[in-house]
Amino acid sequence: MSGYNQGAIGIFDSGVGGLSVAIEIRKGLPAEHLIYLGDQANVPYGTKSLEQIQKLSDGITRFLLAKGAKIIVVACNTASAASLQFLREKYPNTPFVGMEPAIKPASETTQTGAIGVLATPATFKGNLYFNTLRRYAGDKQVFEDTCPGLVEQIEKGEVDTIATRSILERSLTPMLAAGVDSVVLGCTHYPFVLPLVRQIVGTKVSIINPAPAVARQVCKVLAEQGELNLAGEPGGESLITTGDLDSFERFVTSMTSFDRTGMGLVEWGKQLG
Ligand code: DGL
Repeated sequence: MSGYNQGAIGIFDSGVGGLSVAIEIRKGLPAEHLIYLGDQANVPYGTKSLEQIQKLSDGITRFLLAKGAKIIVVACNTASAASLQFLREKYPNTPFVGMEPAIKPASETTQTGAIGVLATPATFKGNLYFNTLRRYAGDKQVFEDTCPGLVEQIEKGEVDTIATRSILERSLTPMLAAGVDSVVLGCTHYPFVLPLVRQIVGTKVSIINPAPAVARQVCKVLAEQGELNLAGEPGGESLITTGDLDSFERFVTSMTSFDRTGMGLVEWGKQLG
């Protein structure tokens, strides 16, 4: 076994959202070491410019590579839309896996021909989204909503409150009235409110969460490159925030089964940037 395949899987997001992807990666790859960075000092990314998001993604990528990442998972639709291409060009020797709005599975699933997509403003503005729509949903009716305030609610751990529910109802009710039968969670924060979404849309609407598919893609890329960690022992996690460590810890302990031993804080301008 080479030393290289014992490198870590570096994962990042603007905040806690990418943990929905980290959870799936952990299920599929129990032996890998995970380094997760939630850039809570700068959340939300969804309302930032392309250039701002690229700069933040670049700083985080450099940090994760310095920590021994062998692959970087951009576990954020917004950062993927804004900077995946830029990162691949800047770090040609590093494999990157990013998020793509799950329009294809939604198009394949819908019976009514009407799809709902929940994502951030920056994701909707990006070429990645535009091209995915053109490729897979040219003959579908697509209803988009940015769910204003939802990322902030999830960051606060408010995954099941009246305020969070009303944000979702405002987004989903018109979609349901228009006949949407397939809803894409186009932001990695949103799987944390999947139970609420389910309550609102009922059992006949498909909710598409791309996190498991992304985890499978990470596994595939590592396998193809001969970089899977084949050690028999379970891997550990370093879970890092650039924001408030206490609130990050609270979220991680209530919403995931990751343990708190590997949690820490890094600061922009000191260890990052
Ligand atoms: N979790 C991020 C995504 O997947 C976005 C949240 C934000 O706006 O920062 O798009």
